[in-house]
Amino acid sequence: MAKKNESALDRLIKKLTKATPIEKESEVKLDHDFDGIQELNNPLPPWWTMGFIITVIMAVIYMGYYFVNFYGKGSTVGWQETELKNEYARANKAVEAYKKAHNLVDENTVTLLKDKKALEEGKQIYIQNCAACHRADGGGAVGPNLTDDAWLYGCDIKSVYKTILNGTSKGMPTWKHLGADKIQKVASYVLSLQGTKPANPKAAEGKTCKNG
Ligand code: HEC
Repeated sequence: MAKKNESALDRLIKKLTKATPIEKESEVKLDHDFDGIQELNNPLPPWWTMGFIITVIMAVIYMGYYFVNFYGKGSTVGWQETELKNEYARANKAVEAYKKAHNLVDENTVTLLKDKKALEEGKQIYIQNCAACHRADGGGAVGPNLTDDAWLYGCDIKSVYKTILNGTSKGMPTWKHLGADKIQKVASYVLSLQGTKPANPKAAEGKTCKNG
């Protein structure tokens, strides 16, 4: 059947398609005729059949690998879940390490700073951002007195940090944009004002609270 001048590519295409040559089409023509469109009963092309078989094999391997876990690695629930868990664990560790390295505390991990340098930085932040409402000496103006032991939102470092971070609905703005590090410093500075005697203190507001 092979013609002499047939190239290797032509032969390969023929092998992969197995299409009936045009001169023999009348032999495989079906009886179907839709407005002149006719149908040939060609066999499934081998390239297609091969592809189909490969996907079936791949599906079995994939299921074993990801769902049935028959390779035995990780847990009994399957690899995907183990991989996810491991990824989470790794990511959480990285986040913790990053937080430590950059002093990214949050309201649950914040601690009271006592070293002079941090408190001095806190003071600068306070003078710049807070003095307008709380007065430079913390005696209070629009905002409450920060030097007395009366507190509206709690006097421990975590509460004060949270108040500064989120602000309140009654006039205390949020200071989120300062970032964790600066909020920790200014919160520590605010608490260092406890017991100082401002010139013109505003009357106490809130509950007595002593552990700042
Ligand atoms: C625009 C005015 C304004 C500025 C600026 C401001 N505050 Fe306030 N602050 C308030 C007001 C008003 C309150 C009382 C809020 C309330 O009653 O809900 C308050 C409350 C607080 C409280 C809670 C006190 C308590 O009794 O629980 C803290 C702490 C505080 N401010 C710290 C700061 C710090 C630190 C800054 C600067 C980073 C700052 N504030 C800037 C107006 C301000």
